[in-house]
Amino acid sequence: MSIHKEVYKRITVKTLTDMKSKNEKISMLTAYDYTMAKIVDTSGIDVILVGDSASNVMAGHETTLPITLDQMIYHASSVIRGVNRSLVVVDLPFGTYQSDSKEALRSAIRIMKESGAHSVKLEGGKEIKDSIKRIIKAGIPVMGHLGLTPQSIYKFGTYTVRAKEEEEAKQLVEDAKMLEKLGCFALVLEKIPAKLAAIISKSLTIPVIGIGAGGDVDGQVLVLHDMLGMTKEFNPRFLRRYLNLYDQMSSAISKYSSDVKSKDFPNSSEQY
Ligand code: KIV
Repeated sequence: MSIHKEVYKRITVKTLTDMKSKNEKISMLTAYDYTMAKIVDTSGIDVILVGDSASNVMAGHETTLPITLDQMIYHASSVIRGVNRSLVVVDLPFGTYQSDSKEALRSAIRIMKESGAHSVKLEGGKEIKDSIKRIIKAGIPVMGHLGLTPQSIYKFGTYTVRAKEEEEAKQLVEDAKMLEKLGCFALVLEKIPAKLAAIISKSLTIPVIGIGAGGDVDGQVLVLHDMLGMTKEFNPRFLRRYLNLYDQMSSAISKYSSDVKSKDFPNSSEQY
């Protein structure tokens, strides 16, 4: 990891394309605040996603739909203040780019101008083609997102694997090719069969970052709080937990509480 950090002092959209051409995997995690972003950035993660999963993880909503553009800008500007090396991608939240391409561009410009982020991510394929085109034309790098797109949860009705049927898989391949042609710099594929993700990754020159899309893609993304084990209720097969922070934090907090109540804290060396 330290060699990797030495080689790429600052990650740009071009770095990611170079990494794909050299067959180097791309690591990506979410972050929503300054403190966590600083840890993620200095740990060597290539891409930080200020995901609209903040709606679930930070605000406790059931879906990603309620989070607003102002709230995403608040999270993104906090993240940006903690980042020196990673490329920062910010989700355009639900309702800020689907109705017309001019509104989409206005939303993307607000994110870039007010947060200082480096790029934006939009969910969807041909139905949002004009929005993507207009944003890219304005010089803003766009990451695509296909497969299970959580902003469309009420259309799907379930969070199960997408594109298992031929028709949906065919459409997904077409959408992926279209996103590359439009100029997207990378693409997230969420919860689709590993074989399909591998075919798409092979057929594109832009990097494909998977979440629940198997190992034969160009990189992986997870939600930070899930991989650190801070959440307990979300247990998909693709989630590897690297820590059990919920329990570790809970026992530290309980210990502090009992130390206060037993008058063990503060002791004589912890006061003035
Ligand atoms: O919002 C998010 O965290 C995402 C990732 C799951 C890819 O879009």
